[in-house]
Amino acid sequence: MSAGDSLRAMAERVRLEAERDFPAVSDRLALDGLYARDLARKGRIAAMFDDLAGLEPDARRSAGRLLNQLKQEVAALHAAAAARIAATGPARPGLDPTLPGRAHWVARPHVLSQLIDEIVDIFKGLGFGVVDGPEIELDRYNFEALNFPADHPARDLQDTFYVNDAVLLRTQTSPMQVRILERQPPPVRVIVPGRVFRNEALDATHAAEFNQVEGLYVDDRVSMVDLKATVTYFLRQLFGPRTEARFKPHYFPFTEPSVDVDMWFEAGGRSGWIEIMGAGMVHPNVFAAAGLDPEAHTGFAFGLGVERVAMLRHGIQDIRAFLENDVRFLSQF
Ligand code: FA5
Repeated sequence: MSAGDSLRAMAERVRLEAERDFPAVSDRLALDGLYARDLARKGRIAAMFDDLAGLEPDARRSAGRLLNQLKQEVAALHAAAAARIAATGPARPGLDPTLPGRAHWVARPHVLSQLIDEIVDIFKGLGFGVVDGPEIELDRYNFEALNFPADHPARDLQDTFYVNDAVLLRTQTSPMQVRILERQPPPVRVIVPGRVFRNEALDATHAAEFNQVEGLYVDDRVSMVDLKATVTYFLRQLFGPRTEARFKPHYFPFTEPSVDVDMWFEAGGRSGWIEIMGAGMVHPNVFAAAGLDPEAHTGFAFGLGVERVAMLRHGIQDIRAFLENDVRFLSQF
């Protein structure tokens, strides 16, 4: 058999198979398969066109005509099958257009990030700037410069995770008081939001990893009245104009006098005062540790527990919910 004859035989086989297969397909995927087999750039008909090159000129001409005719016929079979499938069948096997659609996920800031943004906005309105501080901190800033000498019993209230004797995970945002005063001469009005860590017995209101917002206001005649007014204004902005806070005498080594601020809490049948921040007038030893003259400066500072405020805000009963990353909890806010 000559090369021209075998090309003719092959063309005949392709025609018969196309006439059998195209009318029988019932879905798009199978049709695409047939197209790839016969009509695509690397399909059978294109391969036969390539073979023309090896024929004598006369044989090439007549075989070429035959192939062109074949190509048109198969293309027509393909077009007919495509029209039939488009008119009748589902686009893909297994697609059920009656099933309910899947909702899109919408990302949003974490409930604590939302609250921190709100707190920052309120203090910005009072002229406070915002700074960030290191979570891995030197003992010197977390304790020493804040007037907690080594072996001072107040350190026991804030046990933490130590990297070594000199480096630890900060237990509070207060170390930033000294870092800020070291590099920026008063007047100073800043807040410092950030994560803190404690070796804590966990319960519904105590986490080992939580957020604080530190506030620091230093000038030449700042008094306790400024502290109370600022804190009360802040809480009323956040919780409404009738909010009451309770200032209790307390002890912090780095403020004198010191207070704890409580707010009334009601959620899920539980109620009571819940402590939300510590505060006080900056201790002279803290000014001295930052290289400032304690006689020439006065200031107040506070440290707010963000999770505790969020619990009050939303009636959340257990602080552990913030770290569990359960979308059923998070998507409520
Ligand atoms: C401090 O951390 C002081 N640095 C606050 C301060 C700043 C006082 C400036 C004076 C001047 P305290 O340990 O009380 O204080 O913690 C402050 C707030 O953090 C608490 O009022 C509470 O709201 C929150 N808090 C404390 N421990 C936990 C905990 N384990 N889990 C969740 N929140 C906590």
